[in-house]
Amino acid sequence: MTFRPSALLAALTLAAAACAGESAARHAGTAEDPWVIGMSQCNLGEPWRVQMDADVRDAAAAHPDLRVIFKDAQNNSLTQRSQVEEFVEQGVDLIIISPKEAAPLTGPVAAAYRKGIPVIVLDRAVQGDEFTTFIGADNVRIGREAGRWIRESLGGAGKIVELKGLMTSTPGQDRNRGFLEGLDLPNHPGLEIVFSGEMEWLEPNARTEMESALATNPRIDVVYAHNDPGAHGAWLAARAAGREAAIRFVGIDALPHEGQQYVRQGILDATFLYPTGGAEAIETALALLGGLSVPKQMVLGTRLFTKDNIDRGGEAIR
Ligand code: FRU
Repeated sequence: MTFRPSALLAALTLAAAACAGESAARHAGTAEDPWVIGMSQCNLGEPWRVQMDADVRDAAAAHPDLRVIFKDAQNNSLTQRSQVEEFVEQGVDLIIISPKEAAPLTGPVAAAYRKGIPVIVLDRAVQGDEFTTFIGADNVRIGREAGRWIRESLGGAGKIVELKGLMTSTPGQDRNRGFLEGLDLPNHPGLEIVFSGEMEWLEPNARTEMESALATNPRIDVVYAHNDPGAHGAWLAARAAGREAAIRFVGIDALPHEGQQYVRQGILDATFLYPTGGAEAIETALALLGGLSVPKQMVLGTRLFTKDNIDRGGEAIR
């Protein structure tokens, strides 16, 4: 199902009709005794995650019957496990988590869920189905669209560098899988991935990986990075080597003040929107706390930004 905010309300209304469930919340959900949401963010070192927390905060600000406690796991899965356990001990009414890695967070999320605390998993998934709902964009699809865009813009032939995100997180795995599908290498023998590195979502790592790619490949036509900080790090390395003009750079995230800005500046050739889902998480939390049931998965859409469409706000991918 493709999720649009307007479609969500309709879905929730339908679900409400089908469900007479009572919220198990411990607080009353009034201005005097607001519902308490624990939000565990895997790190705040990356601009996209700062934006996600801001989106959650802004959406919650409109509801005096809600209070959100924010925690930053500082990119450490063990810290994030403890945060979920602390939220349970504290007696929060609902948990929102954007997990660093799938495997280590699966247990604590399942434990909270089994205790009757609704858990909204945002952006990166956990394993299994012991959580209330997952909200996020379809990373296989985004990867596939990036692969297709690159195949078409290269005219079916060229040398490609892939800089991967953290491969123990689901977006890294999915953006790689979709990309290979979109490139369709078996039917396009002129396309070749000449270098593949794991930059774990971080710009400095991407820069270092790209230095290796440049050192070993006299020709590179395009860099596909799993996020915009990665694409920018690669561009910095290429510029330092005097080779940036010969290479196209493609990223993912498209924050207005980051990826979209890079497109305007001619640094990135394309970036795909990866919505944070922060506002949708609060909308969904309110529904759950109000005793409604929600779909198990809500898929957010994406948009493509290039120099040709950036002034029009990009274009939706259908
Ligand atoms: C931020 C980030 C984004 C990326 C997302 C994937 O931590 O790396 O750049 O799109 O996580 O989960």
